[in-house]
Amino acid sequence: MAWQHAYVLCAQDNLAYLVFDREMGHALVVDPTDPEKVERSLKTLGLKPAAILNTHSHPDHTQGNERLAKAYSIPVYGPAREAEAIPMLRYPIEGGQVLDLAGISIKVHDTPGHTKGGLTFEVEHEALITGDTLFFLGCGNPNVGGDVEVLFDTFKRVYAQLPGHLMVLPGHDYSPKNLSFLKSILPDFYGIDGVQKKVEQAHASSGVPFSTLEDERENNPFLMVFNPKLAQKIASIVGLDPHDPKACFLKLREIRNTF
Ligand SMILES: [Fe+2]
Repeated sequence: MAWQHAYVLCAQDNLAYLVFDREMGHALVVDPTDPEKVERSLKTLGLKPAAILNTHSHPDHTQGNERLAKAYSIPVYGPAREAEAIPMLRYPIEGGQVLDLAGISIKVHDTPGHTKGGLTFEVEHEALITGDTLFFLGCGNPNVGGDVEVLFDTFKRVYAQLPGHLMVLPGHDYSPKNLSFLKSILPDFYGIDGVQKKVEQAHASSGVPFSTLEDERENNPFLMVFNPKLAQKIASIVGLDPHDPKACFLKLREIRNTF
């Protein structure tokens, strides 16, 4: 099936997504930060919203729920473990479920750690909408209602395991800061030129850089710890055993917290 997606850049760096099959004419709206911008994008693309999905309960991902749900009489799907904090939630969902919405298959993965019940949505076995858990070159902040050890487990159990071809669609464009962090910890890393070019090219055309899970395993320090070829690089920076990905991940996250 020919599904498509469009991102909607909201506020400074929030990314809402429209996921749709153009022939059906309906879109799933993921994490509507700014409902007016989402509505403008729907209109431009000639789409009607069919449902809202939230990756987690932080207000910068859910604050458009009420307006859109009421205006279009559409349901909100979101993490069962954060149900009390999600406006207008009708369908609490959790990992292992497969949703068929507007003709699009969404496999739900439990990816807690940034928050207690965060979700990642696998779209048609081709893309992952990762919310604030996995970013271009980065990982979510566990200090706003999450837990860093749970976040490590999510990276190990989900992002280090799923097929590498999956496109990563994160909840923010934090690429400038994450690129700076990568350069600061691994200034001689062979991948820097490639990712820097990608970031510069995307921003030069007012776009956003995107990657695949395989790209992230090569270039994202928080996934390098699981890559036998690259774990040594990280371990030498943080002074830890390359065979202990958890200790390396926790240390990296600690350094990143004050970067
Ligand atoms: Fe968040």
